Amino acid sequence: MGALGLGPVIEANAAAYRAPQRGDFTLSGRAGAKVVVLGAGIAGLATAYELGKAGYDVRILEAKNRPGGRNWTVRGGTVETDLDGRTQRATFSDGQYMNAGPGRLPQSHVTLDYCRELGVELEVFTNQNANAYIHHENVGGALAGQRMRYRTAKADVYGYVSELLATATDQGALDKELTAADKERLLEFLRGFGDIGGRADGWAYTGSSRRGYEVEPGAGLEAGTVLGDVPSLSDVVASGVGRRFSFEFGYDQAMMMFQPVGGMDRIPYALAKAIGRGRITYGAEATGVRNLPDGAEVSWQDARGRKHVEHADFVVVATPPMIAARFEHNLGADVTAALKYPVASAAGKIGLEYRSRWWETDEHIYGGITETDSDLAHIWYPSSGFQSRRGTVIGYYNTGAAARAYGELPHAEREARAVSRGVKIHGEKYRTELAASFSVAWHRTRFIEGAWVGWPSQTGPEYRLLNEPAGRVYFAGDWLSHAIAWQHGAFTSARKVVTGIHERVLQA
Ligand code: ALA
Repeated sequence: MGALGLGPVIEANAAAYRAPQRGDFTLSGRAGAKVVVLGAGIAGLATAYELGKAGYDVRILEAKNRPGGRNWTVRGGTVETDLDGRTQRATFSDGQYMNAGPGRLPQSHVTLDYCRELGVELEVFTNQNANAYIHHENVGGALAGQRMRYRTAKADVYGYVSELLATATDQGALDKELTAADKERLLEFLRGFGDIGGRADGWAYTGSSRRGYEVEPGAGLEAGTVLGDVPSLSDVVASGVGRRFSFEFGYDQAMMMFQPVGGMDRIPYALAKAIGRGRITYGAEATGVRNLPDGAEVSWQDARGRKHVEHADFVVVATPPMIAARFEHNLGADVTAALKYPVASAAGKIGLEYRSRWWETDEHIYGGITETDSDLAHIWYPSSGFQSRRGTVIGYYNTGAAARAYGELPHAEREARAVSRGVKIHGEKYRTELAASFSVAWHRTRFIEGAWVGWPSQTGPEYRLLNEPAGRVYFAGDWLSHAIAWQHGAFTSARKVVTGIHERVLQA
């Protein structure tokens, strides 16, 4: 029935992808091959999971002692030693965690389909919050160094931009582009968009309740006091707050967004469970891969340094390219050169567990992100556990030079630096309420060595080469996709490789 396409099939996103099925072999008399996968990140796990649906003999070798790769949730008891030999032990209390790697899932990504298929429960991830702040210190004008709520910044920027455009329109500056009727419609739009006055008011933006309140409206005669003083157009422009608004327009970053309940690593653990415990070997560090006339083989060493060789029909290299570039192999010098071509990016995060949820109780921030122009870059407030006693804030999520600067420091100094910056935004409680912390610098993390990669070109021969099998050796990962730094990229790359192997086996 399955082979004829009549049987019930559990598939994610069936329209775009057809998973291998046991029934595929029924009429052909063929059977699934043996496949060794290097790396139990999302790409490796998804490869093994999908091939497993058709009964392939799959084995994963994973250098770390856990599945997930960069999909890593740190809880109390997590221990990690980085490439600089510095060990951290997380002391988060029960129920507290930080997603050190991926933290948010867009609605369009196949990651959500896998969550459904695997029974991983989702909750909303708050990627945008009108009550979170923008804090710009390194700008000009009177607003420098002041925290400003997103809603206030938007009211002022939209208000002044609307005032300017309405004035220009009404003065005839756009008469070549707009008919009289167009102009009236545009002016009507701008009045609503910017909450500005009408023609008689000179289209002036003078502030509105969209900015927020100094005194909240309440009972009886309490009408509330709208937040004043409205800054000047010049100060608003100088503050640069407007450059933050386009983030949420991004295809991948727009609300709604989601996260697994209990931690992002619910995904790799669900995949690992579905694959089967015995099929994943942890502490297994691959050192080489070879094409053979009748298959392929992997050299690896276990946690005690003992060397092993594993033979298979196919090998899927699902490690970061920086790691694979160091394997001994017989795949050709052009493969090594291609693996060295993408450039590893730096990124870091620190999780700060607090004894109280002061951002909720004192500042009315329930999830979302504060944007800074300091080396913290982004501060994330937790999207779960609202109104509970404790909570874990992502104190920085930075990239590039800022991530490298923090990455060079031992954890205690990272924490001190992050807290000193955060105090400027949130006050002393940012220091005094702190209970525990843990930080990651992805570019200094063993067996990973980068947050993600950037290709100088994804249309050149290097990218094409690694998207094709080298004999019986395949490559998979978000780095071989157009959704780099997203699990979607890893899942879709794995599906591509799985389809390639399965078609080859069926045609053999
Ligand atoms: N996908 C990563 C993020 O959302 C880069 O931050």
